[in-house]
This record gives sequence, structure tokens and C-alpha cells, in this order.
Amino acid sequence: MMKRIPEPFRIKMVEPIKMTTLQERQKALCEAGNNPFLLKSEDVYIDLLTDSGTGAMSANQWAALMIGDEAYAGSRSFVKLEKSVQTLFKYQHVIPVHQGRGAEQILFPNMVKHKHCEHPVFISNYHFDTTAAHVEMSGAKAINVLTPQALETGQWADFKGNFDLDALQQTIDDYGADNVVGIIITITCNSAGGQPVSLANIQAVAAIAKKHNILVVIDSARFAENAYFIKQREHGLAQKPIGDIIRSMFACGDIFTMSAKKDPIVNMGGLCCFKDNSEMALFRDVQVSCVPMEGFITYGGLNGRDMEALNVGLWECADEDYLEYRIGQVAYLGELLHEAGIPIQYPTGGHAVFIDAGRLLPHIPPEQFPAHALANHLYLEGGVRGVEIGSLLLGRDPATGLQKKSPLELLRLTIPRRVYTNDHMKYIADCLIAVKNSAASIKGLTFEYEPPLLRHFTARLIEIEK
Ligand code: F0G
Repeated sequence: MMKRIPEPFRIKMVEPIKMTTLQERQKALCEAGNNPFLLKSEDVYIDLLTDSGTGAMSANQWAALMIGDEAYAGSRSFVKLEKSVQTLFKYQHVIPVHQGRGAEQILFPNMVKHKHCEHPVFISNYHFDTTAAHVEMSGAKAINVLTPQALETGQWADFKGNFDLDALQQTIDDYGADNVVGIIITITCNSAGGQPVSLANIQAVAAIAKKHNILVVIDSARFAENAYFIKQREHGLAQKPIGDIIRSMFACGDIFTMSAKKDPIVNMGGLCCFKDNSEMALFRDVQVSCVPMEGFITYGGLNGRDMEALNVGLWECADEDYLEYRIGQVAYLGELLHEAGIPIQYPTGGHAVFIDAGRLLPHIPPEQFPAHALANHLYLEGGVRGVEIGSLLLGRDPATGLQKKSPLELLRLTIPRRVYTNDHMKYIADCLIAVKNSAASIKGLTFEYEPPLLRHFTARLIEIEK
């Protein structure tokens, strides 16, 4: 059993959460159409739906809210945030946005416009859902070239978020470099299980991009967690301070987008930043798009006080003691499950434990959503809410109407930052072990109502009786 790393904070304020009875949970899940997305959060004991905007701000972040400058233009809080970005990442040009997808919606269409090509594509290790959606909304195609190691869930690999470099080169050759608008490096790679990308891989991707004159965008929601894994696992980097690793990663990009709702522990916020003056025409156009879509260029949809909290959070999340505890807590839950024989994406990544429901419930075929069935039973068992990342999320091919083939059927248990204790982790593991012991009786699901778009959010499902 691995050593538990205790919380490097004490708790100053608490939010009560309520345990429910089995009957109450059965009623709540039934009313929610067997879809945890439709549960009221009040009916959830431990909420592992996402780590986005659900973190606990520190005393310093709460204190910073009080000194926010709410000026429409040129806010002091913006100037402070801009300076932090310039110091921490060495990126000169800073646009605040309301969240990660805010950055995507002002950046991607302008990148496509500036590329002047016929068949625009973006290539990524793995586009996050909204990232792929914004790529497609800008008229481009989103292609993923993730290392095949990511699919071997039971097999340890240090960097399961890496690009498959041969596939990247091949994709550039296939589409022609002139059509590749950008390469998006997602750190950590959320869809693969919060798995890290090595610095060597980031540098190799940047070298390929440079050779072909392609812009590199770093999708950096979990940049600090990625840097911590690099320090732990990459040859020769154990002694390097986290800050230096962060700057080495970002030196490989031209632009970064950030959902600040993850690593920097704010409830709302994001960034879109340019490294230097080499893409000024594009930067100006992104600023122009920001004004009508997000807000004036020095607030981008954020309150002055939000920028103050973000400014503090950017530094706090890069603290090594915090990161050791954070990654350690996720690993602790992973180890408890692994030791109990529950198949997970192994080793665990930065922000979540991904359970391989395809392997845990082999009697449920993908089109009956095994990971979603597992999510429902975990909720019934102990009021714990996770989220399916598999066939239900993937949806249908719009051309054929057929279910797309998901490489994996995963249940994501996403751990909010600084919110739950290690005792909560033990409780979650106990609930899952109980579910595993009755796995054979878990039934597949079919639609009672299937929405035409982003169906997983609002679908209603029923169990399939054999
Ligand atoms: N990029 C990555 C890698 C993400 O994980 C997310 C959001 C976004 C971009 C979009 O950022 O939500 O601030 O607009 N991921 C959340 C999740 C929603 O639950 O994984 P956003």
C-alpha cells in the first residue's frame, strides 16, 4: 500500500454535504432519467463529475477578491495578471477570457482565416470535446494522433498523453502542411485519462511544427500537473524546479489557451496568450474578436476580482508541495482500486481516475453504455457521481447516423482540487468495490429520449431487461 500524502492545508471553512438513503437515491436517479448529469447536486454526496471550476480557493485567493479593480479598461487587476503570465510562462501578450472555450472561440476562426488554405485541419494528441467542437465550428477538421500506449489501460507507461510522432508526420504529409492550421498540444491529455505529455515529446512536436511552418497551440488547463509528472518521470529532470519545467514546456508553443478553472483553481476564468511579436497580425484579430464575444481586451468576461483570484491561483498551483499532495491523492484512489482488481487507466493521471468499464462489465456491449451503467450503480451504492467517457459521449456519425466506435468505455472519477479528503477517497473506493462484487447483475441501457446533439448531457435512459 502506498504512503498517503497528507493535505498541505488546514480547513478554515466547510460546506456540509448530505448523505442520502438508497431509496432516496433510487428515486433521484429515476427522476433524472438514469442520467447523473440530470441529478440535483443536493442529491449527490461526493461529486466527481468534473475538476472544472469545482476547486476550493485558498484564503489568499478569497482575500485577493477584495482588491479587484473593476475598471472597464486597463484594470489594475489585469495588469497584475499580465505580469504573472509574462513571468511564469514567458508569454508577452495576454487576453483574459471567461473560460477555456472562450479562448477557443476567439482564436480558432482567426487562425483558420490567417492560414488561407482550402482544407483546414488541426492535429492534436487529443482534442477535448469543446476544443474539437470549436475547431469544427471554424470550418476545420480535428484529427487526434495519440500514442497507442494510451489504449493499453492496464499497462504502465510514463507518458500516455504523448503524440504518436510518426502518425503526426504522416497526417501532415497526408493533408499537406499548407492545410495544417495548428498543432494543439493538450497538457495533460484529459481524454486519455489526464495523462502527461513528456517534455521530449512536446519538443519533438514543436520541431516538426517548425519544419513545416505550423503554429503550436498549447491547451494548458492542467499545465502544472503535467510539469509535476515530467519532474517525477522524465530522465534528468528530477532536480529542475517546476517553474523551469513550465517555462520549458511553454517555450515550445506559439500560443496558449487555458481553462483556468482547473489547475489555477478559480471557479471561472481563462486565458489566450501569445508568446512574442511573431504573430502580431493574428493576435490583433483575436483581440478584435474578443471585444464583441468575451468583453473588452483587459477583462474578457471576467470581473476584476476574478482576475485577482486567478493571479494568485496561477502561482499556488505550481507549488511543489501542493502538487505532490494533489497527484498523490489521485494516485491513492487509483492504488486502492488497482489493488482491489478494478481495471483502471494505469498509472493514474493528474486529475482523475478512469475506470475501464469495458473490462469491468464485459457482458455489456458498447452500444448499451457499460461505463454509464457503472456510473449509475456507483451513485446508487454511495451517492458518488462520476461521468461516462465512452460511446454515449461520442455519439453518432452525423453522416450515417450510426454509433461511432469508441476506443474505450471509461468512467471518469474527477477529483476537484483541495475539496475532498483522503478519507473520502477511501469511501469512494469502498463503494466501487461493492459495485464490482455485484458487477454481473448490472444491466445495459438504451434510450428513452436521445437528443440530436451532445446527447450525453440531456439523454434519458432505461435499463434493458433480459
Ligand atoms: N481543454 C481541456 C483540456 C479541457 O479539459 C477543457 C474543459 C477545456 C479545454 C474547455 O475549458 O470548460 O473552461 O471552457 N474540461 C472540463 C472537464 C469541462 O470536465 O474536463 P472550459
